[in-house]
Amino acid sequence: MAPVAAAVAPAPVLTSEYGKKNPFPAETIDTLILNGEGSSKETLHLEFSLTGSGFSYEPGDALAVLPVNAPDVVKAVIQAAKLSGGEEIEVKNVGKKLLADALREDYDITALSRAVLTKLAEASSSADLQKLLAEDAKEKLKEYNYGREIVDAISDFAPNGISADALVSIFRKLPPRLYSIASSPLAHPDEVHLTVAAVRYESHGRQRKGVCSTYLADLVKAGDTVPMFIQPNKNFRLPADDATPIIMVGPGTGVAPFRAFVEHRAATEAKGKSWLFFGDQHYTYDFLYQLEWQDQLKSGNLTRLDVAFSRDQPEKVYVQDRMIQQAKELYQWLQEGAHFYVCGDANRMASDVHQALISIVENQAGISREAAESYVEDLKKSKRYQRDVY
Ligand SMILES: Cc1cc2nc3c(=O)[nH]c(=O)nc-3n(C[C@H](O)[C@H](O)[C@H](O)COP(=O)(O)OP(=O)(O)OC[C@H]3O[C@@H](n4cnc5c(N)ncnc54)[C@H](O)[C@@H]3O)c2cc1C
Ligand SMILES: NC(=O)c1ccc[n+]([C@@H]2O[C@H](COP(=O)([O-])OP(=O)(O)OC[C@H]3O[C@@H](n4cnc5c(N)ncnc54)[C@H](OP(=O)(O)O)[C@@H]3O)[C@@H](O)[C@H]2O)c1
Repeated sequence: MAPVAAAVAPAPVLTSEYGKKNPFPAETIDTLILNGEGSSKETLHLEFSLTGSGFSYEPGDALAVLPVNAPDVVKAVIQAAKLSGGEEIEVKNVGKKLLADALREDYDITALSRAVLTKLAEASSSADLQKLLAEDAKEKLKEYNYGREIVDAISDFAPNGISADALVSIFRKLPPRLYSIASSPLAHPDEVHLTVAAVRYESHGRQRKGVCSTYLADLVKAGDTVPMFIQPNKNFRLPADDATPIIMVGPGTGVAPFRAFVEHRAATEAKGKSWLFFGDQHYTYDFLYQLEWQDQLKSGNLTRLDVAFSRDQPEKVYVQDRMIQQAKELYQWLQEGAHFYVCGDANRMASDVHQALISIVENQAGISREAAESYVEDLKKSKRYQRDVY
């Protein structure tokens, strides 16, 4: 990782010929695994060159990455459909292609949905599948879809295979995936960095892998190009006044945009205090960017760091537990005008942190739950409470 550069003027806003419709093929500079040996997590740090893209971005923005499907997943779908992969098919807006190439590059060949199964039902004429799609079988459909992919549905409902044209008719276009940008353009001019958790799990007797996260983990090597575009996020921004304190809550990959925030504030020699709450499973293996945080603390670019390693003791300890332990000071920072940011898991973490924030205000201000909720709501309305959760 390149060292943080000295303060420079903000990047000019550039217009680019590249974007959503014409992604930029960015060269991969470096990829490395942030977790130590023995970790059950696989979190990658990736660096790409934006030289020649004309892209500009701000901390808080996301990067959209266009992956390709893994060769073993393509092979499994072709086998399930009882095809060879050498069939020629027509890809909309692209032209004629070999089936195997189109499955790799153009289509979402994994994610199951009602829309996919409805098209498969037409292609296969399966009575069992029609039953599963009936109006009164919604729960059964949900249960079937959980942990399964398109390859399972083809095996289950079209056991004798389907034609190449019928197969591609069931797929949607392969969508890009978004990642919070983990770098400041002032600290790393012409580069963009990501922090990506590889999604891998086993279900219904098969090893599964997330399309884009394992494309980045398994297939992308230094020197390879990766198609991408910037997805701006105006709702996740550093305060306009750099003297404003910031509180950042980012467990796991949620820490990504806060690396960008702290680098940016260092590069602009911002005057405001900054406080990071980070959490992951184990101190020894999963302290993402540990050395960088220690350097930022030492140089005063990060004022406070509180960490919660959930699996280093018998009971779980999470970032919101650390917030509650530091309730007095956290509330003081809020009263001084601090902006409060949360990034990472939307399902559980973000709502638990939200509840903890309300409890802190309730107890520290000595007000009712309703009054504390309205204090936090006001933080949101005045854009002092921003979330980037997924
Ligand atoms: C604004 C935004 C910012 C983001 N920033 C980041 C970031 O900085 N870093 C990061 O790593 N990710 C980030 N994400 C998430 C990222 O976009 C992808 O969703 C993630 O990488 C998974 O994509 P994939 O293609 O690897 O997996 P997919 O192929 O999309 O598969 C994921 C799906 O697999 C299924 N699944 C996963 N685990 C299991 C399981 N255990 N059991 C059963 N089913 C399961 C679920 O249906 C899940 O939706 C962000 C998302 C958004 C919207
Ligand atoms: N679909 C889901 O339910 C779900 C849940 C989590 C993450 N994810 C996804 O998994 C990917 C990788 O995740 P990640 O590497 O960013 O890490 P992560 O799985 O979010 O975990 C980071 C840390 O947060 C802890 N954590 C778990 N539940 C929490 C809660 N309710 N409140 C606060 N902290 C909590 C974890 O502890 P423990 O693991 O020890 O509990 C771990 O220490 C992301 O794409 C994320 O969206 C999905």
